[in-house]
Amino acid sequence: MTALDAVVYGAAELVTGPAADGHSLEIYEDGAVAIVDGTVAAVGPTTEVTAEYPPESASVAVDASGQAVVPGFVDPHTHALFAGDRSDEFAARLRGKSYQDILADGGGILRTVRAVRDADAETLLSNLLAHLDTMLAHGTTTVEVKSGYGLDTETELRMLRVIDSADDVHPVDVVPTFMGAHAVPEGWDADDYTAAVVDEQLPAVKSQGIAEFCDVFCEEGAFSVAQSRRILEAGAAAGLTPKVHAEELGHIGGTQLAADVGAASADHLLHATNDDIDALVESGVTPVLLPGTAFGLGAEYADAEAFLDAGASVAVATDFNPNCHSHSMGFALSLACVEMGLTPAEALIAGTKHAALALDRTDGLGTLRPGSPGDAVVLAAPSHVHIPYQYGTNVVDTVLKDGSVVSTSTDESSHRDVQP
Ligand code: NIG
Ligand code: FE
Repeated sequence: MTALDAVVYGAAELVTGPAADGHSLEIYEDGAVAIVDGTVAAVGPTTEVTAEYPPESASVAVDASGQAVVPGFVDPHTHALFAGDRSDEFAARLRGKSYQDILADGGGILRTVRAVRDADAETLLSNLLAHLDTMLAHGTTTVEVKSGYGLDTETELRMLRVIDSADDVHPVDVVPTFMGAHAVPEGWDADDYTAAVVDEQLPAVKSQGIAEFCDVFCEEGAFSVAQSRRILEAGAAAGLTPKVHAEELGHIGGTQLAADVGAASADHLLHATNDDIDALVESGVTPVLLPGTAFGLGAEYADAEAFLDAGASVAVATDFNPNCHSHSMGFALSLACVEMGLTPAEALIAGTKHAALALDRTDGLGTLRPGSPGDAVVLAAPSHVHIPYQYGTNVVDTVLKDGSVVSTSTDESSHRDVQP
């Protein structure tokens, strides 16, 4: 027995995904989408879709008149599992202290590491679930979450188990990445720690089967290209697909490494050169740009135009972490447009279809087409342009995940106790 989960109909604009040119969108005006058994069964003009899939026969019928419907956002780069509060570092940066100065004073990643080592699994899970709630309310239906605030086998495994539990209990799909090589922990030499990641952490992660990707922070002061390569190759041998934090603060060759090891993505890329970009395109590595990080650091933005000109499938993520405290893909897409020159259509593709590519998802995730996961966002606005246009506003009205309504916006008027 198949079940008609949902029909969303009458949408001012139903965005199914990229058009053939890869830059503009395929859009149905007065469009509808029908979701059967969690999967998109049909999209098209409302009259055609509803003739075959009557809204009154569906478990959920959403009248989307005057509203745009887009695929659920995919956020392919976050460090959303953490403990502690680093808002004081944000304030210090506003007074001119650099991210590196903060790190040198024992702040930054290593401060979060201390907080996470001290936190039990229950606290960590409740922290992560609260962040997932906010992300979902902002339209994110799939999110990648990295470990990397443990930096020892026990805490890295605790983080990955919590990420796994969150995926089990929360409607957002959570994709787990092992990032034991996020920083060199206090008291360690980088080579010795690299060996510990390879010889102790990775075998433990493999035996538990709770990570899909292996990421490294390939940067001066973190892991060299040689150390990163060693970790990513050992990760690949353990069944984990490589990802690389590359050329964020400087240029040391992380992008070429990502191309060499066949990474799913290379992320940040502020200092990537044209040769780097060509190498990514040739090897099919998805570039993930993180404009929220540049915004928070007051840094330069990645040269998105160079990536687009080279024919890259540019993805955008929030990089949500204690140093970049934004859950909102909408805000990241606003920055991608205003600061990096993407069109609203390119930005939406970057936060859906291309973001799915950065997670190696080729099952239609990030699109609304027959066979795609039934993950859709109904906007409180008539077109996708309102996603970047209404910066700082959550334009998400209703979120469907696998065909079920999992989030609805708070209608402020319904909460007002207005007495005549
Ligand atoms: O992607 N660059 C390294 N990792 C994070 C920052 C994590 C942190 O500061 O806690 C990033 O920006
Ligand atoms: Fe990161």
